[in-house]
Amino acid sequence: HTVGIVGCPFSGGQPRAGVDTGPLELIESGLVQDIEALGWKVDFAGADTLVSPLVADGPDPDIGKLKKPRLVSNVNKQVAERVYKHAGAGELTVTLGGDHSLAMGTVSGTFKAHPDAALIWIDAHADINTPLTTPSGNLHGCPVSFLMGLPGTSKEEIPEFGWIEPVLKANRLVYIGLRDIDEGERKILKENNIKSFTMHHVDRYGIGKVVDMALDHVGRDRPIHLSFDVDAFDPAVAPSTGTAVRGGLQWREGLCAVEMIAETGNLVSLDIMEINPSISSTDNDVKQTVDVGRALVRAALGETLL
Ligand code: ARG
Ligand code: MN
Ligand code: MN
Ligand code: MN
Repeated sequence: HTVGIVGCPFSGGQPRAGVDTGPLELIESGLVQDIEALGWKVDFAGADTLVSPLVADGPDPDIGKLKKPRLVSNVNKQVAERVYKHAGAGELTVTLGGDHSLAMGTVSGTFKAHPDAALIWIDAHADINTPLTTPSGNLHGCPVSFLMGLPGTSKEEIPEFGWIEPVLKANRLVYIGLRDIDEGERKILKENNIKSFTMHHVDRYGIGKVVDMALDHVGRDRPIHLSFDVDAFDPAVAPSTGTAVRGGLQWREGLCAVEMIAETGNLVSLDIMEINPSISSTDNDVKQTVDVGRALVRAALGETLL
């Protein structure tokens, strides 16, 4: 078994600098050695081959409310190709972000190789705003709408993102950990009947039951893409992130969810997103956030407590 690593030092889907240094920080912390110690072969060409160049080739004025649209689109097109190269070769792909707009590329690449995959999205946020509903214009709040082809995201309406195929069906998507949902997003989740386990459900049923219900919903026997935004964790667990929201997952809850998904044997692609080493109020914040990111990757690759 081989793990393909895609590093994406990208921050253009949101306004705070520093999230682009997340991948290198994870690599330098010893992530590759962690993965090898679990018995996997690693397909990673080195820290100098992180996706590049991550700059726009020309002026990039807003499109409606959307900020840096051409940059986000171009980077994600490259990411989709990289992820597809690994996933198409039968590797388990691990993508290190970078901000969560990168899921436009990772999910596109995974679903090209595994068209009947399911998407599990663990996050404080639904990231399903459309170009018409986004209150901020930050594209890290929008990737899921493009992947589903929601109104406002079609080739005709926004040709700059025309390469994204609407590969994701509403019944193949499930959320865990939500607690900060915009008004427009709430409407989209309801109208499309998208299964969403908020922190209320985690509190009420416990993480084990929630993950079982989530897996039952999308089906346990199909390939799984897990997109994990570290802001799903409580800020006490993962403080170094750009849009922290209190009342999140505890350390073991996040790890338990990923262990259960790994146990299905069907995980084909993993995103670790939104670690921002430039955000910290104590000396320990960055280390702890990177540590939990590494622990998520190990859990996804089969590490167990015993
Ligand atoms: N819903 C807000 C927005 O659209 C926040 C999104 C935060 N997303 C994230 N990947 N951290 O701007
Ligand atoms: Mn390869
Ligand atoms: Mn989030
Ligand atoms: Mn997110």
